[in-house]
Amino acid sequence: MRHFGDICNLTRFEMIGLLRLTRFLQRDREVRGQNHPILQGKHLAMVFMKPSLRTRVSFETGMLQLGGHASYLSPTEVGLGDRETAPDVARVLSGYADGIMARVFDHRHILDLMEHAQVPVINGLSMATHPCQALADMYTLAQEFGSHWASPNWPGLQGLKIVYVGDGDSNVCHSLLEAGQLLDLELRIVAPEAYQPQADFLDRIDAEVQVTADLEGVAEADVVYTDVFVSMGQEADRSRRLQDLAAYQVDAQLLQRTRNPKAIVMHCLPAHRGEEISDEVMDGPHSRVFPQAHNRLHTQKALLAHLLGGEPLPTP
Ligand code: CP
Ligand code: NVA
Repeated sequence: MRHFGDICNLTRFEMIGLLRLTRFLQRDREVRGQNHPILQGKHLAMVFMKPSLRTRVSFETGMLQLGGHASYLSPTEVGLGDRETAPDVARVLSGYADGIMARVFDHRHILDLMEHAQVPVINGLSMATHPCQALADMYTLAQEFGSHWASPNWPGLQGLKIVYVGDGDSNVCHSLLEAGQLLDLELRIVAPEAYQPQADFLDRIDAEVQVTADLEGVAEADVVYTDVFVSMGQEADRSRRLQDLAAYQVDAQLLQRTRNPKAIVMHCLPAHRGEEISDEVMDGPHSRVFPQAHNRLHTQKALLAHLLGGEPLPTP
């Protein structure tokens, strides 16, 4: 792995190795108060073409905790593809930074950065995918449902049923499917027909994905996952999307359809309370949305340590 443009850049072995490294770094910091200065003197350039809370702060904090530092470049400063082409931005930043993290509209810009940068490139979200989110999501599932850490087949999530509800054609859903496939999860989508993943994307997933518009599709869920109905860049369609997706809100009524009393609810955040998720569910006992958000820090530290610091990935 040289870049982290998508989950499909990872083998199953690398994904599990990253999750194991995550656990090691998190435990050392939280239990032993020990930081590892793996990235001393290293610099991450963070290019943002869209707003962010979690991605920006977790990458910045992750670099600091590993002994390095990060700089934030705002949409107007860089103007990726507008003020300057993505290949030129990649060439310039490669002379200053040890890694580039970019949040973009057009996924092509991630591919261009990867092709022309001399340093590792990390996709911090595009219209197509959000692999950093999926990495944290898999770690959250390992903590919640995984086998014992010492077990050779950790995280042992095979067969766990994850049901994504709402806008099934979103960046978060795409990466979740790719990551879930790598760990042999059972993947299901509950979404209106016009909001189901594209057939060509589903063809790329080397696993069966059950797709239905019927809310009863959540019945078997161990995990109910949702994301905003209006992603960044889709604001012009806001009223139509809210109307089309209104019946797919994750609320108490929808959760009552699940048979597993221990089913959990996940959301990448930011949440639009009262749209895709109700307050009651978001703040209720099934919700794991805040530990899930905190895990962004831990999994990205492992990613940075490996990509920028050459830290080897642990084996089982
Ligand atoms: N989940 C996520 O990527 O959040 P931000 O948009 O705040 O970075
Ligand atoms: N699908 C959302 C995810 C935000 C983290 C968006 O692209 O706005």
